Amino acid sequence: MDNFHLPDSSSIVSSIALIFLRQSSNGGNDASVFSKFMVTFLSQWCLDCHHYFLSQSYLLTATKSTFVKNFIDMSLLKDLEWRYATKKMNGQKIPQEKLDYILEAARMAPSSSGLQQYKVIMISDKALLERIRLVAYDQSQITDCSHLLVFAAWDSYSDERISNVFNYMMDERGLPHKTMDAYKQVILETYERAGQEWQSHHAAKQSYISFAMAIAAAAEKKVDATPIEGFLPEKLDELLNLNGSGYKSTVILPLGYREAEQDWLVNMKKVRTPKKSFITEMTLADVSDNVVLPTPMNLDAFVQKR
Ligand SMILES: Cc1cc2nc3c(=O)[nH]c(=O)nc-3n(C[C@H](O)[C@H](O)[C@H](O)COP(=O)(O)O)c2cc1C
Repeated sequence: MDNFHLPDSSSIVSSIALIFLRQSSNGGNDASVFSKFMVTFLSQWCLDCHHYFLSQSYLLTATKSTFVKNFIDMSLLKDLEWRYATKKMNGQKIPQEKLDYILEAARMAPSSSGLQQYKVIMISDKALLERIRLVAYDQSQITDCSHLLVFAAWDSYSDERISNVFNYMMDERGLPHKTMDAYKQVILETYERAGQEWQSHHAAKQSYISFAMAIAAAAEKKVDATPIEGFLPEKLDELLNLNGSGYKSTVILPLGYREAEQDWLVNMKKVRTPKKSFITEMTLADVSDNVVLPTPMNLDAFVQKR
C-alpha cells in the first residue's frame, strides 16, 4: 500500500485538541464529544492523506496504482459528460466556496509566456445582468444564473505591460528583474511585428484556456455553466466601461443551476466527433518531405517572416 498511510500522531493530537477547544467554548455530552472526535479525526486523516498524495510526488506514485489512476481519469471524464451548455437556469445561488474554487481554477490556467493577459469580471447584480442580457441576444441564462463571469483580454501588448508581469514574477521568485530581459525582448519584437490585431487575438486565445478551466472546475463542483460567445462584444465593452481600459471582453460564462424541466437540452445525448475522425496519429512516413526546415544557421530569416 505505497499510496496510502495510517493517521500519524500529529493528526490524532490535532483532532483531540480541536474537539476540546470546541467543547470548552460550546459545552456538550460525552456522546457528542466522541462523535465529534471521530468526525474531526477522520477528516483530519483524509486531509493528511490528501497532502501525502500531493507531497509525495503524487503522479509518480499514483501511476503505479491503476485503481487510483482509473478513478482520477474517470472522474474528470464523468464530470465532462455530466456538464452541458445549460439553456435554462433556475436562479439558485452557488455557495461561495464553489464559486471561489471555479475562479481559482480560472486563475491557475496556463497562458502564453505566463503573462495572464486577461482577467475575469464577476457580476451578480441583477440590474446589470438584465442589461447584459440585452446585448447577449436575450439569452435567459444571463439573468437566471447565480454569477456571470466575463473574460476580458488585453487589447494589445506593450513593454510596460509585459515588464509589469515579469517584474512581479521575478519578485515572487526572488530573482532580479533583468532575468527575463532577453526573453522579454524576443517576445516583444515578435508581437510588434505581428501587429495590434494579432496581439488582441493572441491575448483572447489565452483567455479561452482560463475559460475552459472554469468550465471543467464548475462541472467538478456540479455547478452548471453555459459557455457563451453569443453577445455583442463592442456593446458589452461599452456597458462595462472597458473602452480605454486596455481590455476587451472575449467570452462569458453564466454559472448556476439547471432548471431541468424547462431545459430542452438536458436529456439530449452528448454528441462529439467520433474518435476515429478526431484523433489522427502521424509518423514521418505520412508527412511532406520537401519542406525547407529552419536550422540554427538560418532561423532568423524564418522568424523575420512571421
Ligand atoms: C466558445 C463557445 C461559445 C458558445 N456560445 C454559446 C452561446 O452563445 N449560447 C449557447 O446557448 N451556447 C453556446 N455554446 C455552447 C455550445 O453550443 C455547446 O458547448 C456545444 O454545442 C456542445 O454541447 P455541450 O456543451 O452541451 O456538451 C458555446 C460554446 C463555446 C465553447
